[in-house]
Amino acid sequence: MSDSPQPTCFPFDLLTLLPEVFEGFAQTGLIGKAFAHGRLALRTHDWRQHATDRHGTVDDTPYGGGAGMVLKLEPLMAGLRHVRERAPHSPAVLLCPAGRPLDQATASRWATGQGLILICGRYEGFDARVEAHVDELVSLGDYVLNGGEVAAMAIMEAVGRLRPGVIGNAASLNSESHRSGLLEYPQYTRPRDFEGQAVPDILLSGDHGRVDSWRAEMALARTRALRPDLLRDRNTST
Ligand code: 6GU
Repeated sequence: MSDSPQPTCFPFDLLTLLPEVFEGFAQTGLIGKAFAHGRLALRTHDWRQHATDRHGTVDDTPYGGGAGMVLKLEPLMAGLRHVRERAPHSPAVLLCPAGRPLDQATASRWATGQGLILICGRYEGFDARVEAHVDELVSLGDYVLNGGEVAAMAIMEAVGRLRPGVIGNAASLNSESHRSGLLEYPQYTRPRDFEGQAVPDILLSGDHGRVDSWRAEMALARTRALRPDLLRDRNTST
């Protein structure tokens, strides 16, 4: 018998017009197992149910004119208030291209909390007044998606895997890309030679000290080559 306490359940509350998008996600892989074992919970809330007309209208034409539609405030706010009552300790995150790009530090901060409310728009933008009612605006990166659902899955995976008991080998969390602000060192497995591409000799030396310092060097070299922006951010933020 283990005497470690049962990991607590971390709930994701999703406000979405497309709850069916999450079905396969929530049932598959390590994350699926974590949902099945109750380490994570996924509660979807279709805020179309809070629409006030019988057609379930959730959008309307923009004030000032222009192309496209805008997501109406009342059904969305009714949905958000419903969810906030059930998850009073979870920060509410509005998923939109104008948000701060998701990073590992943000995922770690959320993972130490008690849950997360993720608000997914679709096609059109939100009525800007919703921003006053959420805790953060977050984006996946500088490109446009049709809605926040893919971003919500990315966030659930990035946050969920940091929760106790979700990843079997917790030690593997320590050496990964981005945790240290650097990319991960290159890894290899068998065969030792693939069509003339050989595994670096040092990894076969059995000298753990030299292997460790080679890996540290390679992490830095790879970061410099592939993501020099990470090194600049590291130097200026400390
Ligand atoms: Cl969170 N939403 C949408 N619609 N587009 C995005 C995004 C989010 N992140 C990057 N592009």
